[in-house]
Amino acid sequence: TDRPRVFSGMQPTGSSLHLGNYLGALRQWAAMQDEYDTFYCVVDLHAITAGHDPDALRERSRVTAAQYIAGGIDPERSTLFVQSHVPEHAQLAWILGCITGFGEASRMTQFKDRAGREGTEGTTVGLFTYPILQAADILLYDTDMVPVGEDQRQHVELTRNLGGRFNARFGETFVLPKPYIPEETAKILDLQDPGAKMSKSMGGSGLIDLLDDPKVVEKRIKSAVTDSGREIVVDPENKPGVTNLVIILSAVTGRAVAQIEHDFEGRGYGDLKKEVASAVLDTVVPFQKRVRELLDDPAELDALLARGASKARDVAAPTLRRAYERVGF
Ligand code: ADP
Ligand code: NA
Repeated sequence: TDRPRVFSGMQPTGSSLHLGNYLGALRQWAAMQDEYDTFYCVVDLHAITAGHDPDALRERSRVTAAQYIAGGIDPERSTLFVQSHVPEHAQLAWILGCITGFGEASRMTQFKDRAGREGTEGTTVGLFTYPILQAADILLYDTDMVPVGEDQRQHVELTRNLGGRFNARFGETFVLPKPYIPEETAKILDLQDPGAKMSKSMGGSGLIDLLDDPKVVEKRIKSAVTDSGREIVVDPENKPGVTNLVIILSAVTGRAVAQIEHDFEGRGYGDLKKEVASAVLDTVVPFQKRVRELLDDPAELDALLARGASKARDVAAPTLRRAYERVGF
């Protein structure tokens, strides 16, 4: 096809995907399927950098793939696969690691944050080289665009640097990708701590796991932290909790923020929470039903992922061969 190529992936770790992953990533991925040649990966190699349970990982990878599909990724229109099924990712990562400066890798902020918190003795070399594996993920597919959150911009920049360096040193081999951060993408905040984004690594009762029991989802929204005052207006500085709820409501219903503000004039936080809970459940309940259907037929799901891996390898293998040849293997 001559449509621009898109690659993205999420880890099968921690909680399953959460509302932020859905509104900030998965839904955008699904919307890109017609216009772009889309590759969506469950990045399980990335999920073992900080210790894990093998059986849980295997299960999580399946669940995450099922969530991609329930979230609108169509395995016929996209290449949907699990990273470890395509060995070329790890193979290319080795080569890229050999052209990455130690200092350059040390400057990646996600690693610095983690090593800063836990010390280098508490982290792994895998976590340190994680952005290099991410560069391999992207470069293997001649990716033009990578839909990512703001926090991943630096990793896409590293990918461009490594791809460009390889091309300069060994001859034109890789397409240099651009980060794609859709403007309208909502950043969903933690319901209990609206100073932070909703995140797997935070977990806790401020997070809406897409597979949480609907009663839990409702309870978490109803006990979300709000702010002093009574007005329902978007004011990220002074009213981050209320702002977050309005943004969630807008994102799941498609109603403009200004319209929501108008509709809630003179009404209280309780009303807002009730409406947010009901709108989120309208998304979450059918999503969960679809995930259950997919998980109820593991043979079909595995077959679908095997087809995805085979489609992915049709692209990844020639790219790796090209790189091997250039390097002198
Ligand atoms: P987490 O922070 O939960 O570990 P990841 O960093 O794995 O999530 O992000 C996976 C994708 O989901 C990225 O594209 C990221 O931008 C998006 N994403 C994660 N959390 C949020 C959020 N709270 N709001 C909007 N998008 C998010
Ligand atoms: Na993260």
